[in-house]
Amino acid sequence: MDIIDHDRLLIIDFGSQVTQLIARRLRELNVYCEIHPYQNVTDELLAQIAPKAVILSGGPDTVTREGSPRAPESLWTFGVPVLGICYGQQTMMVQLGGDVHGGKISGGGGTAEFGRAFVTPSDAQCELLAGWFADDKEQVWMSHGDHVAKLAPGFEVYGTSPNAPYAITADLSRNFYAVQFHPEVHHTPNGAKLFENFIKMAGFTGDWTMGAYKDIAIDKIREQVGDKQVICGLSGGVDSSVTAALLHEAIGDQLTCVFVDHGLLRKDEGKDVVAMFRDNMNLKVIHADETELFLGELEGQSDPETKRKIIGKLFIDVFQKYANEIEGAEFLAQGTLYPDVIESVSFTGGPSVTIKSHHNVGGLPEKMGLKLVEPLRELFKDEVRALGRELGLPASFIGRHPFPGPGLAIRCPGEITRAKLDILREADAVYIDQIRKHGLYDEIWQAFVAILPVRTVGVMGDGRTYDYACALRAVTSVDGMTADYYPYSHEFLGETATRIINEVPGINRVTYDITSKPPGTIEWE
Ligand code: XMP
Repeated sequence: MDIIDHDRLLIIDFGSQVTQLIARRLRELNVYCEIHPYQNVTDELLAQIAPKAVILSGGPDTVTREGSPRAPESLWTFGVPVLGICYGQQTMMVQLGGDVHGGKISGGGGTAEFGRAFVTPSDAQCELLAGWFADDKEQVWMSHGDHVAKLAPGFEVYGTSPNAPYAITADLSRNFYAVQFHPEVHHTPNGAKLFENFIKMAGFTGDWTMGAYKDIAIDKIREQVGDKQVICGLSGGVDSSVTAALLHEAIGDQLTCVFVDHGLLRKDEGKDVVAMFRDNMNLKVIHADETELFLGELEGQSDPETKRKIIGKLFIDVFQKYANEIEGAEFLAQGTLYPDVIESVSFTGGPSVTIKSHHNVGGLPEKMGLKLVEPLRELFKDEVRALGRELGLPASFIGRHPFPGPGLAIRCPGEITRAKLDILREADAVYIDQIRKHGLYDEIWQAFVAILPVRTVGVMGDGRTYDYACALRAVTSVDGMTADYYPYSHEFLGETATRIINEVPGINRVTYDITSKPPGTIEWE
């Protein structure tokens, strides 16, 4: 389906950290939207996009500063509904004849406000708020230094909070709506309802699906890449797998994937990934088996950061070596997701401590001289999974737990040996099998075994054993930044321990790690 077939909503971005969340809320409502930075939104662009509605995002600037960002003047006579959020509300007010005061200047009864607040309705009725006020008040998230001190002509108040007398305002005759808070963030629990009402008023039919997103992403890739060659680092994780599948659908044989096998993968993983992509999906996949190189360099190393650095550096060297052999490669495809983009944008530059030097197939060095193709940059993790399903990747593959770039190396505290890795792979396979058999896999964010650098005494049959101890780990999490250990039943733990000890030679003791993050981390190193 061509993009022209879709109802379009334009988000004019004034630089808020959470602009993309507006897009996300809209996408959940099956609305196609485009985000454009305010500088680019000229009268011509507005006419060209021909949106059915416009949303003005928040932003860090202050409308009280001369030369601060504004919406294009033609917007006010364009004839479509406009919703201003935070800075968007403030620029709407000043552009239409109202007034905004800086945080420290009082006036209009407002002050700066950060965090949770409660909005109560006024007596006036407004369709934007249909079904919104549950208990005559709604929790919202405020984050503003400036505040509206005088409404523009034609506007009325529909909701107030203790520090924002103009929390919800509208000029119903012109279909202009403006809110001081952020309906797009989770801390405004019913914010989605406002968007739903807004798009309903604007006449959207909800014709935007992940299938439509896929079609547009494919068009964009074709346009960017032309007839050039693209390489993609495939890790077997969801992000790189969906990237590869999408590129393959867009440009077929112009894509070559490089799967670097560092010998630190789970049982059968290398074989399975290559079989799926190469044999089932017909992608060109180079299986770079560099086990000897990686394990050789890691020999005798037991410091976690040293291990991570060795793996990260070798990975780049190896990738580069294979990439150089692909003739005419001009592009590097990466599975960068939107949260990675926000994190890098919102990074304040303050002093922060490196807990672990993360390594994965993304972030390959710029010196490779390749242009980047990042088709997942606008998506959140669950949307990537939806896109993967759309592309025909099997559900079992898409729902896989995350697996770290350095692989089993960081699940083998202390020195890594091949013998330990073999034991770990077997124990992990039994553990995951148990989780699947008990129907727990999808409830858990990530589960794995770590083999501990201690051997303990046990008794099996009539004999003494002196084998490794291992730790089971399972956590629930939303994004990996914080995590809780999973509350297995004792029966499950007992059964799993028995199976591992019976089925995996080399392990005679099983423990369960009940540390949350923080203070622990998910991985052991
Ligand atoms: P931690 O151990 O930092 O892990 O609590 C959080 C999440 O990140 C994964 N992880 C990594 N992923 N490269 C990756 O691609 C890495 O170097 C790396 N280290 C940890 C970890 O598996 C968990 O999902």
